[in-house]
Amino acid sequence: MLLRPGLEFGGDYNPEQWDATTWPHDVRLMRETGVTMVTVGVFSWSWLEPAPGSFDFAWLDQVMDLCADTDIGVDLATATASPPPWLTHEYPEVLPVDKLGHRLWPGSRQAYCPSSTAFQTRAATLVDRLATRYGSHPALRLWHVGNEYANHVTSCWCAVCAEAFRRWLADRYVTVADLNQAWGTAFWSQRYSSFDEIHPPRLTPSFGNPAQALDFRRFSCAQHLACFTNERDILRRITPEVPVTTNFMSFSDVVDCWRWADEVDVVSNDHYLKAADADNHVELAFNADLTRGLSRRRPWLLMEHSTSAVNWQPRNVAKRPGEMLRNSLQHVARGADGVLFFQWRQSQAGAERFHSAIVPHAGTDSRVWREATDLGSVLARLAPVAGSRVDSEVALIFDYESAWALEGEAMPTVDVSYRDRAIAFHAALWREGITVDMVPPGADLSSYRLVLVPTLHLVRDRDAAAIEAYVRAGGHVVITYFSGIVDEHTHVRLNGYPGAFRDLLGVRSEEFCPLRQDEHVSLVGPDGQRVGSADVWTEDLTCDTSTSIMTYLDGPVAGRPAVTRNDYGAGRAWYLATRTDEDTTFALLQQICAEAGVAPATSTPAGVEVVRRTGPKGAFHFVLNHTDEAVVVQIGGLDLVSGAAGDSHHVEAGGVAVISAPDQDSP
Ligand code: GAL
Repeated sequence: MLLRPGLEFGGDYNPEQWDATTWPHDVRLMRETGVTMVTVGVFSWSWLEPAPGSFDFAWLDQVMDLCADTDIGVDLATATASPPPWLTHEYPEVLPVDKLGHRLWPGSRQAYCPSSTAFQTRAATLVDRLATRYGSHPALRLWHVGNEYANHVTSCWCAVCAEAFRRWLADRYVTVADLNQAWGTAFWSQRYSSFDEIHPPRLTPSFGNPAQALDFRRFSCAQHLACFTNERDILRRITPEVPVTTNFMSFSDVVDCWRWADEVDVVSNDHYLKAADADNHVELAFNADLTRGLSRRRPWLLMEHSTSAVNWQPRNVAKRPGEMLRNSLQHVARGADGVLFFQWRQSQAGAERFHSAIVPHAGTDSRVWREATDLGSVLARLAPVAGSRVDSEVALIFDYESAWALEGEAMPTVDVSYRDRAIAFHAALWREGITVDMVPPGADLSSYRLVLVPTLHLVRDRDAAAIEAYVRAGGHVVITYFSGIVDEHTHVRLNGYPGAFRDLLGVRSEEFCPLRQDEHVSLVGPDGQRVGSADVWTEDLTCDTSTSIMTYLDGPVAGRPAVTRNDYGAGRAWYLATRTDEDTTFALLQQICAEAGVAPATSTPAGVEVVRRTGPKGAFHFVLNHTDEAVVVQIGGLDLVSGAAGDSHHVEAGGVAVISAPDQDSP
């Protein structure tokens, strides 16, 4: 349970876009549809402070009072996600600058430089005023700082940031000699004699320095975090009892969400389906599991998703009937204790006019509204689920810094992406009905039977040692190609790949042999029979202590091992040295799970997802039927969605059941 008994339901509410006469009607409708919490004021700075130092809280007073009168909680935004025009007019240096030196202008949103003192000072004043005014308001339930930090402005390359970057580097390296060492500046005559000579990685004639690029991402992450803590600390001082969140995009390019998660009271996340992906519910599961990981397995809040289509993809596909309920409960199945949407009422003007909402342009005589109302009542019936947990026997190490390092310039191939194997492994286990916990490098792995390590390109010595110690003590691990290659400064680990994991895996590779675009190689088992195919990556690998499980039949390293297994200490370490196709990945992971003693809790037809949450109020099996056929599942209990009780349950095509039963495993 996060903020109140039961699950939260609601969305972003932007009353300033509507005439005040709409507001009482809005809160009545919210009540009707079962809304428990709304996020107010995310982009309302210019309404709260229309001119420098001149505040207008009258409209927000009215909205807060209306919410309190109707028992709707408010997740009150600090409204600093978008500076008002007067701020950037008065302090043009607040506007961010891109890598090419272009200033980004007002007229959209998030147009601020994360190192700008003017921005932070003005933001602090507004936050102080908001906290003082609404700190004890009965509607206030949660503080919502900023919005999706670094979504649009990942980094800023302006002169202020350049200076801040130099200071950050001086703090980190202390001497310029140490920086030269860490950045490998002997290469291409980049040796610095003072911190003053250093620039952010702006446009250069050829490839930039990879260590500089990585440090700039770390710096950018730190600058955005400082903007967040600047506001959060004011809130904590004035309203220490009110929890604080900021909505993550857990797949961020700059925000290291593991670091940020320690700074919030409640982890919240925004997730939008990729319309082009027909199986986008599988990616949804990954994203939700990652968010549960960020929340250190505690319940979290889905701060935003959409009731139907978004408006920012090339083709914005409307959700099919039942899909929104299924998406929502899929997040709840994987640990969310609340489901909120962007946004309550579909805008009539502005850049997001064609983005769906709970109250669409068509009004309440609409399918979307009726489905939202159904969702409200389902979530109310699911109140006993609040506070329960998801247990997993498999962990996946997810690392933002590896993604940043791996997706840099001048790599062996453009076809390796960090997320690819993470998503593929997760999808294989999703297909098998096995839930996965996401953990950061260095996490305590002792409670897991199996640990997946996809493309952990950058790894610190201590984090590699933690994986090795886990296997030595009896754990099972799967590591993929291009892992363990560089240290925290992007320096390559020498004497054979995959550097940090060579001993653990019992292999040694002399050379990477990436494949041409669309080139495939065949894989054969020990008996010479073809078992599958692979693409993107091969390497010139030899087994030391390990056994070859699959070899290449053709391609640049025909006859070499492609998949190996090494018994190490009391455990076992697998190496997948190539990008195995979907079915081969599935079959391998099935075998590896079986050897590690990991089995799905229930067996269900393909495309039917079952996830179990357990807590003091019992066990809850979420059954999500992503197929076009009705199914019967052999799980006994009371379905909190339909109200049916029995030893088995019929779940409609595209339907959902949440079957509640006393937890057998509880004492
Ligand atoms: C999010 C953002 C919202 C809204 C939404 C549209 O990234 O936080 O304010 O723009 O996307 O999908």
